[in-house]
Amino acid sequence: MERELALEIVRVTELAALASGRWMGLGDKNSADGAAVEAMRRMLDSVSIRGTVVIGEGEMDEAPMLYIGEEVGSRQGPEVDVAVDPVEGTELVAKGLNNALAVIAAAPKGQLLHAPDMYMEKLAVGPALAGKLSLLDPIETTLHKAAAALNKQVTDLTVTILDRQRHEEIMQTLRRVGVRIKLLSDGDVAGALAPAFPESGIDLYLGSGGAPEGVLAAAALCCMDGEMQGRLLPQTEEELERCRAMGIADPHKVLSMEDMVGGEDVIFAATGITPGEFLSGVRYLPGQRAETDSVVMRSRTKTIRYIRTLHSLPNKPLLAATS
Ligand code: FBP
Repeated sequence: MERELALEIVRVTELAALASGRWMGLGDKNSADGAAVEAMRRMLDSVSIRGTVVIGEGEMDEAPMLYIGEEVGSRQGPEVDVAVDPVEGTELVAKGLNNALAVIAAAPKGQLLHAPDMYMEKLAVGPALAGKLSLLDPIETTLHKAAAALNKQVTDLTVTILDRQRHEEIMQTLRRVGVRIKLLSDGDVAGALAPAFPESGIDLYLGSGGAPEGVLAAAALCCMDGEMQGRLLPQTEEELERCRAMGIADPHKVLSMEDMVGGEDVIFAATGITPGEFLSGVRYLPGQRAETDSVVMRSRTKTIRYIRTLHSLPNKPLLAATS
């Protein structure tokens, strides 16, 4: 993939964030999502790729746009698989909470895991812990290994995890061992990336969240020398069947970075919708202007580029409820 593609792709998340940011705090997550989906879909067609959506808004019969299998891009350029999440953290936008992102990853055809829409158990770390931990270890062992590798006391570790009932047992262990915990109300792409940003103060991301979000986070971590391990958590016979239909032979296997993001050529881009820890949210300015903060990364060169863009907005209103 050409390196210019990284700059083309970031325009897609910028447009999605600009459209969704209008809905911040308005309590309507469907419209916040709908606006971003529409903007992202439109913008994707200007990108020089022959793209196929492999992670998107759902199956063709569930989603009018950005459905799995949809062809996107200008139909000129490399053949790529595209994973999108126009609003990662719809509830965060609806409530005006931190860390909602518009996200995209692209890789040469066949290199992104076609993760089905189900939960995935995850363990994500930054470069200092990459290759040093295992999702198969009990949590307590993981914490001790992490502390030793970082030359810290276990009680000095900070772990982030989605605040969910299903994590009760993990949280009890974390509290018994005495690590510091940062609970997330939503948004586990930002959560999984946090350990790779030293300024976040987060050492590990644990727990289960969406499998598609897991692949998106793995794409970014691959560019940042971090690591994500994942294990799909199919709950029903139907979900097991969905794994098989998507070409995942053993749904219970621990997935490595290579299983989720094969090859050495992935691009990841994200734009902040609401303010966050590593990206600011959209700011609407006087004179029909708006400012966005984005990050775009390439695994081949490990370049991490922060882009602050001042946009000139169209005159027509961006608010039109979809629900
Ligand atoms: P949406 O943007 O689709 O609402 O997802 C938000 C999110 O918090 C993801 O970041 C996370 O992977 C997933 O939901 C967790 O699902 P659940 O809310 O069912 O625990």
